Amino acid sequence: MPQSFYITTAIHYVNDDPHIGHMYENVVADVVARHRRRMGDQVWFLTGTDEHGQKIERSAAKEGIRPIELADRVVKTHHALWKKLDISHDDFIRTTEDRHRLGVLELIRRIEKRDPDDIYAGEHSGWYCQSEETFIPENQVRDKRDESGHPVEWTTESNYFFRLSRFTQPLLDHYAANPDFIYPPTRMNEIRSFVEQGLKDLSISRTSIKWGIPWPGKPEHVIYVWMDALTNYISALGFGSSDHEKLDRFWPANIHLVGKDIVRFHAVYWPAFLMAAGLPLPRQIAGHGWWLRDNEKISKSLGNVVRPYNIIDEFGADPFRYFLLREMVFGQDQNYSDEAFLARYNADLANDLGNTLSRAIKMSDSYFGGKTPPTACDDNELKRLATEIEPDYLREMETLAFQRAMDVAWRLLTAINGYIVAREPWKKFKETGADESLSRVIWNVLEALRIVWVMMAPVMPATTREALSRLGADPDRIGADSLTWGQLANSVPVRATDPLFPRIDTAAYIGEKKMTDPTPAPPETTQAAAPDQSKISIDEFMKVDLRVVEIRAAEKVEKSKKLLKLTVFTGDGERTIVAGIATKYTPEELVGRKVVIVANLNPAKLMGIESNGMVLAASIDGEASLLSVDPAVPAGTKVK
Ligand code: MSP
Repeated sequence: MPQSFYITTAIHYVNDDPHIGHMYENVVADVVARHRRRMGDQVWFLTGTDEHGQKIERSAAKEGIRPIELADRVVKTHHALWKKLDISHDDFIRTTEDRHRLGVLELIRRIEKRDPDDIYAGEHSGWYCQSEETFIPENQVRDKRDESGHPVEWTTESNYFFRLSRFTQPLLDHYAANPDFIYPPTRMNEIRSFVEQGLKDLSISRTSIKWGIPWPGKPEHVIYVWMDALTNYISALGFGSSDHEKLDRFWPANIHLVGKDIVRFHAVYWPAFLMAAGLPLPRQIAGHGWWLRDNEKISKSLGNVVRPYNIIDEFGADPFRYFLLREMVFGQDQNYSDEAFLARYNADLANDLGNTLSRAIKMSDSYFGGKTPPTACDDNELKRLATEIEPDYLREMETLAFQRAMDVAWRLLTAINGYIVAREPWKKFKETGADESLSRVIWNVLEALRIVWVMMAPVMPATTREALSRLGADPDRIGADSLTWGQLANSVPVRATDPLFPRIDTAAYIGEKKMTDPTPAPPETTQAAAPDQSKISIDEFMKVDLRVVEIRAAEKVEKSKKLLKLTVFTGDGERTIVAGIATKYTPEELVGRKVVIVANLNPAKLMGIESNGMVLAASIDGEASLLSVDPAVPAGTKVK
């Protein structure tokens, strides 16, 4: 009988496009959802947008549009981004939807019905700022002005209040009986000490705000935005409607995944509302840390928001997903930099994971005629290690310790590399050919790699499919049982092809200023009709300086099978270009030949040699074929 598993993210304010913090949260939830699904659970994964309240009201007012117009526009960026990041949510809720409003009204109705005393009309007094249309906290008021210098007035507003104070002890009891209710434990300690000081009643309606769900029977009040927003977790399941099927199946939630700044709302207010309504409480509030820039929390007001859309466009979703999970210890804060991304990409992905895969497949391809070896092996050190680490991996995934789960996979990967070096299959092949012993060695390597990739599946779903199919394994077999040794078929085709993660020249990348500078939200054009990404304008094309050059000298680059160092004449001087064409051309046949180059690329270092340009060639299955140029065309001629 499959277990049900319900995971949610916070619903993000829709006043702005998502940034790295939102991306992280959705990727974490997605990895958990994918992992639970492949372990056989029946998963429901909810994300969405928080669309009411003052922030949205203000942002819209600034643009001179209605809040719903702003929400409709920004929500499109959310949808596009989650698609790009391969987020596999089952539902997306907007708090401006009718189903949500019905859920919120039902929650209030249930609370009032259970104990009419839990919600009462009262008065809220404080410093009110006309121009900001909000109450300003006492500690931000000086000489009757707020921090921005706006005048404030002592004002009394009539509100509805929720008797939160009554829930101080029931909450403490709940924490004591459910030590995992707030995770990680540091967050539990913070919240417990906060509640131990005694809770004050909470004002749950506003008359100073218009953009929200009107209070039942009192339309001059709107429901407090947090009471509204928190209810999304059940309104999305049909709470407040006549269809309770999803609610019965998935509530209570297994994990509400949120940032540490909003754990309090989820671990204090939300369970108190639910207790008051007689509904079961979620099983866990998991609080992740913050992405920082230069040790400051990324935030709109600080102007240091990081939106690494360029990284995702250039490298694809999977390397970025990997980076987010590998770089940040769940629960702790982490600084972001493009350099850190590139370093992880080159070291972990291009080098460790990608190279080992290419190397192994290449050996199988050339020793066993393009297939996996004919003999399997059931007793060897890689099998022992793979079997030993499986429970470690599962435990780390279970406790959201993704970084450690990946370390576990890396233990096996490192062992695979050690095993290859120790066995020297290339020597074996030379000495005794593709015999049974070599077959076992190579099969062990491929099988262990298959397990490493199955471990990576929730984090890098698309690349895992590709890697598994290159290995001759079934890309759909990533379930719980596929972590067990012995599943790679014998004598099935492998696919030796381009690297999965081509190395990136960090210095050149940074030099080309592709860095993710802290930027304001992308301009409107990216939110309206998206331009056709596959086309460029003539102006963009004209930026590329294509030139005919003559190759004056060519030599092999030491320790590289692919690279040649070329000295080319550009009409007004010579320059060095490193080109990956050595598998197809000998240095001798190139000298005197005319080719086309991209002349205005930033210099890049390849195997320690500075390359100043790129030679154009067609690529046939990864093998270069140079473009021919009429020998009569002088060096330096522009190509367009
Ligand atoms: N709308 C509320 C949540 C309501 S949930 C019922 C909200 N929205 S938010 O857009 O400000 O934040 C959405 C999520 O992103 C929160 O979990 C928040 O903690 C997280 N992050 C916002 N900035 C962050 C970082 N710099 N780093 C990591 N996550 C952070 O709060």
